[in-house]
Amino acid sequence: GNGGAEGGDAAGYPEQNITVVVPFSAGGPTDTVTRMIADPMAKALGGKIVVQNVEGAGGTVAAGQVAQARPDGYTVLMHHIGMSTAPALYKDLGYQPLEDFATVGLVTEVPMTVVARKDFPPTTLADLTTYVKANSAKVTLANAGIGAASHLCGLLFQAAAGVKLQEVPYQGTGPALTDLVGGQVDFMCDQTTNTTGQISAGKVKAYAVTTPERVKSLPDVPTTAEAGMPQLAVSVWHGLYVPTGTPPEIVQKLSGALKTALADQAVIDQMAKLGTAPVAAADATPEAHRAHLEEQLTTWAKVISDAGVKAS
Ligand code: MLT
Repeated sequence: GNGGAEGGDAAGYPEQNITVVVPFSAGGPTDTVTRMIADPMAKALGGKIVVQNVEGAGGTVAAGQVAQARPDGYTVLMHHIGMSTAPALYKDLGYQPLEDFATVGLVTEVPMTVVARKDFPPTTLADLTTYVKANSAKVTLANAGIGAASHLCGLLFQAAAGVKLQEVPYQGTGPALTDLVGGQVDFMCDQTTNTTGQISAGKVKAYAVTTPERVKSLPDVPTTAEAGMPQLAVSVWHGLYVPTGTPPEIVQKLSGALKTALADQAVIDQMAKLGTAPVAAADATPEAHRAHLEEQLTTWAKVISDAGVKAS
């Protein structure tokens, strides 16, 4: 936060619309998860939630803006694993995850899929690895910018395959998937909350899911371990944040509303259709989220440095 005056009066909160900032384009996985819980959360709070997409730089533009917002509970950030990778990828990040934000609670952890345009020659993950090594100069790998989950998964794929590919950044994997369906880009890693529909409709090819077990809603897609690339293991955890200095009573109200939304059957059903599920209530707390963020910051700093990637 900007260390400004304490937020509004907690007792009457909320007394105006709450903005939940999504750091990627509308229609992508982060946006989809946010819009799933926005109404049930707003109902639980007795207020209104407005979802605002603020794109750019793999989600770091939005995080930087929310870090500077008034700590009054009316600006909330939905973010994901990118909150824990950005410090290792950006030299001048402009915010410190653990200092500039208060955690509200974890939301969901989403599997990733390795998907390609349907006419891309490789038919299996092993073929893909062989193909990209032989064609590294021309294969294009889409992502949602440095620091995005799609970027991290792409980084892990390239490290496992021992190849460096041409990356094509988008403002979100919503638009990236549109280009993949249109055949404008070759392949990408993206979350099941975005790719399930296009995979099931046969509009893109799915090589693998990045979770230890297969995803129920994509039963025919092998895991990366089954497909011979066990190193490619990453799921995208999501959490809600407010600027540091937001009154704890407001944080608790938001966390309570989050838990209510995650227990909403419609949310559970929607998430199941898209290959994911709400976190357990115990993880939708400020403390559990903060502990997870601390551990993830350490974990990904090492993975990124071991992969030879420097902050830029
Ligand atoms: C990403 O990190 O790849 C984002 O989740 C993409 C998005 O939500 O649009």
